[in-house]
Amino acid sequence: MTRRFLFLLGSSRSGGNTELLARRAAEQLPADVEQRWISLAEHPLPDFVDLRHDGDHVRPTEGNAALLLDATLAATDIVLATPLYWYSVSAHTKRYLDHWSAWLRTPGLDFKATLAGRTLWGVTALAHTETVVADPLIGTLNNSAAYLGMRFGGVLLGNGSGPGDVLNDEAALARAKTFFAREAPLARFPYETAAA
Ligand SMILES: Cc1cc2nc3c(=O)[nH]c(=O)nc-3n(C[C@H](O)[C@H](O)[C@H](O)COP(=O)(O)O)c2cc1C
Repeated sequence: MTRRFLFLLGSSRSGGNTELLARRAAEQLPADVEQRWISLAEHPLPDFVDLRHDGDHVRPTEGNAALLLDATLAATDIVLATPLYWYSVSAHTKRYLDHWSAWLRTPGLDFKATLAGRTLWGVTALAHTETVVADPLIGTLNNSAAYLGMRFGGVLLGNGSGPGDVLNDEAALARAKTFFAREAPLARFPYETAAA
């Protein structure tokens, strides 16, 4: 199957470090791999309303929710390109993930079955030099992938504060060259891997 990568840009500024790093990694994808790039800031989702136990969610047919849902369903690979904000994903990215909870409960979508076996990736810029502080973000993405039965390719981390700083992080640029070529195993919750 031809792979179709969906890059969801989660920064609150355009052209920032996360996007720069994601584009460096994407440059290495083979030419026959489709790439679609969507800025979540430029395509804001409505506030998430939890209707899960009040009745069925309805499939969005217009606006950014429909655009992002259709793009998500069409992707074989979803790349959450989110800066580290307060040690986790950005609000734009979190809101997109919250909408997964609606899409999981939308009749006729088969959201979980469609995403199962597909791959979730992360690309993240952060100002802190000790990358261990990004562990909560990595856990969020890993566990979300595990919940959906997806594969998880890990998170490409790069250092930077001001826009363009990440281009000075030679180690991150080197990791970007092979990031999408790596194996993406089926995601497992930590308690599953601990028991294995
Ligand atoms: C709201 C906000 C929260 C942030 N929280 C963190 C943080 O928890 N840890 C960190 O290392 N950097 C943090 N930063 C710094 C950004 O991760 C850093 O500037 C990064 O390069 C921004 O990525 P961007 O250029 O793609 O927007 C934060 C920045 C903002 C605006």
